[in-house]
Amino acid sequence: MRKSFLFVIGMIALAIIVIFLFRRCSYSMAIKDLPLDEQALLIFNEKGCIDCHSEDPNLPFYSSFPIAKGMVEKDVQVGYRAFNIDPVIVALENGTAPSEVALAKIEYSTTYGSMPPAKYKAIHWNSALNATDREVLNTWVMQNRLKYYDNGLATEEFRNEPIRPIVDSLPVNPAKVFLGFELYHDMRLSKNNLVSCATCHPLDKAGVDHLQFSKGIYDQIGGINAPTVYNAAFNCAQFWDGRKEDLAAQAGGPPFDALEMGSESWDEIIAKLSEDKNLVAQFDALYPDGMTGDNIMNAIAEFEMTLITPNSRFDRYLKGDKNAITPDEAEGYALFKEFGCATCHVGQSMGGQSFEYFGILDDYFANREMPADREIIRIKDQGYYNATENEADLRYFKTPNLRNIALTPPYLHDGTVDNLTEATNIMLKYQVKKDATPEQVDKIVKFLHTLNGEYQTEELAISQD
Ligand code: HEC
Ligand code: HEC
Ligand code: HEC
Repeated sequence: MRKSFLFVIGMIALAIIVIFLFRRCSYSMAIKDLPLDEQALLIFNEKGCIDCHSEDPNLPFYSSFPIAKGMVEKDVQVGYRAFNIDPVIVALENGTAPSEVALAKIEYSTTYGSMPPAKYKAIHWNSALNATDREVLNTWVMQNRLKYYDNGLATEEFRNEPIRPIVDSLPVNPAKVFLGFELYHDMRLSKNNLVSCATCHPLDKAGVDHLQFSKGIYDQIGGINAPTVYNAAFNCAQFWDGRKEDLAAQAGGPPFDALEMGSESWDEIIAKLSEDKNLVAQFDALYPDGMTGDNIMNAIAEFEMTLITPNSRFDRYLKGDKNAITPDEAEGYALFKEFGCATCHVGQSMGGQSFEYFGILDDYFANREMPADREIIRIKDQGYYNATENEADLRYFKTPNLRNIALTPPYLHDGTVDNLTEATNIMLKYQVKKDATPEQVDKIVKFLHTLNGEYQTEELAISQD
């Protein structure tokens, strides 16, 4: 009786082990024959990536145990903020393009062996990525990058980098660009005819006002730092919080912002502009419905498509001119990748492609010194939430682009930082939690100085007048 009981238990245990081993074996045998996309999907499922990086995680069974619970919840929260895998799974299932940011993040985690975290591997002893898994993921990243994002400008050696050179130009209608240029500098868009787009985004000052918060109509002070208009054409959405989907939609914002230009309606603006016969004629020639709010926004956006800055020293380096940057600067770039900076600051404009939680690894806002008594600051600090009204999006900000970054202090959405060394230290502390020596930080900053590009074939610089 007792013997047969033990026998049954033994058989059950054996069956579990056999099933388990079979699953492992069939996983590694089957994976080789699958299309690359399915191999990647299998790895993300089998190695626990989805457990911690999905909005709707598959929590492991022990996650309800008292001590494990806190640990797992924290990992899932931090993991999800560092990387949301859900859009990648959707792209894999639909055969569409994963974002450049997701590709860079996955490549980072395989290259530096950061995932899954050590304590997770300790409990799930088969969750570590083996050499084949890593090769599969890296090949998958490379294929997607070349298929969807390569613009043919980098040399063979640099084609699979997370950062690409900026194209020389984007396709535009020159007559609309000319009209947009005029409107961009036209103060009649403001209530008192004293503020234009160029007031806060002067083209000869790298497209920024260099103030912590912009000064708008009647000298009113805003609550967020003005980003540059250069390379905004590459952004996935406009504003720090992404409340406008594109440049045209964005251009319709400032004229009616009470703190910025203070106008009340397009009718009010058009009444002033239509006294200008030359301007009316230009609109009539370009748009069937002539001068309208939509067409004003369209022309400004067309002009902004020309505000791109190719040919920085770093871009010339990626295009094959090995001497375009110094050895220190090249080391700075290597560190920029090694410390994970190039997982968010990616692509042509080195940013602008995703919304990221600010303070993934420590609470930036709790540590910041800033009188939060102004309601506008509280609202601006909410980030992407302002666009979605989804609580989960609080404190997510559009990653700023780093092109011409040496020319656009002060930094961060709250304009609290006036130099790149401090900005880099803040990123190291709150976004990647890496200890860097002052020499390493110095090299990263040197690298950041290689990113000044050319506008109309001249290197962008701050004019002194
Ligand atoms: C136990 C939860 C957990 C699992 C499982 C896990 N991660 Fe993570 N992941 C995290 C946490 C926490 C972070 C935050 C940064 C850190 O701690 O390194 C993170 C960060 C990341 C990042 C951002 C870049 C980086 O490396 O820091 C990527 C990409 C990533 N994980 C991918 C993966 C992939 C791919 C897998 C599966 C092979 C995986 N993760 C499995 C918790 C997890
Ligand atoms: C009073 C100063 C001021 C004026 C005038 C102004 N802006 Fe801005 N601009 C800002 C500030 C501040 C932001 C950031 C606001 C935010 O993110 O909430 C911004 C954001 C932008 C962005 C988004 C860039 C990015 O990376 O997200 C673009 C593009 C832009 N402005 C273009 C324009 C245009 C075009 C006009 C004229 C129609 C204009 N601005 C007028 C201050 C100004
Ligand atoms: C997880 C994504 C992420 C990573 C990784 C990251 N950044 Fe950032 N970076 C951001 C976001 C988001 C902001 C804007 C924060 C804010 O002000 O709200 C930012 C801001 C910056 C700024 C200021 C830009 C400006 O126009 O104000 C610099 C400079 C910068 N990062 C450099 C770096 C460096 C160097 C690293 C690596 C040590 C790094 N970043 C890593 C997302 C990231």
